[in-house]
Amino acid sequence: MTELGPVAWPPAPIRTERLVLRESEARDRAAFIELLASPEVRTYLGGPRPRDELERATPAVPGRRPGLFAVDLDGAMIGVITFDRRGAERPGHIRAEAGHAELGYTFLPEAWGHGYAAEACAAALAWFTNALPGEPVVLCTQTANDRSMRLAAKLGFTEVERFEEWGAQQWFGVWSSAT
Ligand SMILES: CC(C)(COP(=O)(O)OP(=O)(O)OC[C@H]1O[C@@H](n2cnc3c(N)ncnc32)[C@H](O)[C@@H]1OP(=O)(O)O)[C@@H](O)C(=O)NCCC(=O)NCCS
Repeated sequence: MTELGPVAWPPAPIRTERLVLRESEARDRAAFIELLASPEVRTYLGGPRPRDELERATPAVPGRRPGLFAVDLDGAMIGVITFDRRGAERPGHIRAEAGHAELGYTFLPEAWGHGYAAEACAAALAWFTNALPGEPVVLCTQTANDRSMRLAAKLGFTEVERFEEWGAQQWFGVWSSAT
């Protein structure tokens, strides 16, 4: 994954009905660590990382880069949405040239089941459409990840292909503001 590229960053905080999408801040550090240390969150993402290692390695203000939104509910971070450039060597392509913009989403388990991820991702995709008009967005998720598969469909991603990677079947989909 590489950074998204030339977009105006950070944007003004994006407000939805219940949430705010904003740049990450120092107060989000514990939530960032939890997202990476949680066995539940990491079930389909290669497993949890050791908490003590994360405590040592996580910077004071984690996640500050173009394309990374902290999702805030009532002043606390509940999840992260990312747009990155998908590496050319990875399987999954929608056109000959590489470097598709790829959406990622991880939310704390206590925030699942309320529609927050769907609400935040829809707002993030609207931001993306303004920032890079006409560009499609891709998404890759394990087919076994039911919640993620449902979210991808709800957001309007459509299947391009399925393939095996990291010992699991992956679903590769695309979204475009035009459709
Ligand atoms: C993938 C993930 C973000 C999905 O979260 P989620 O909360 O299930 O997704 P949504 O925001 O779409 O919420 C949907 C649920 O909220 C419920 N809901 C409750 N109130 C709602 C409301 N006001 N509006 C919409 N949905 C609502 C829906 O009925 C649905 O429940 P169900 O799953 O029991 O059917 C979350 O499971 C996660 O972070 N997983 C770990 C990280 C991961 O695997 N990421 C994928 C990497 S590719």
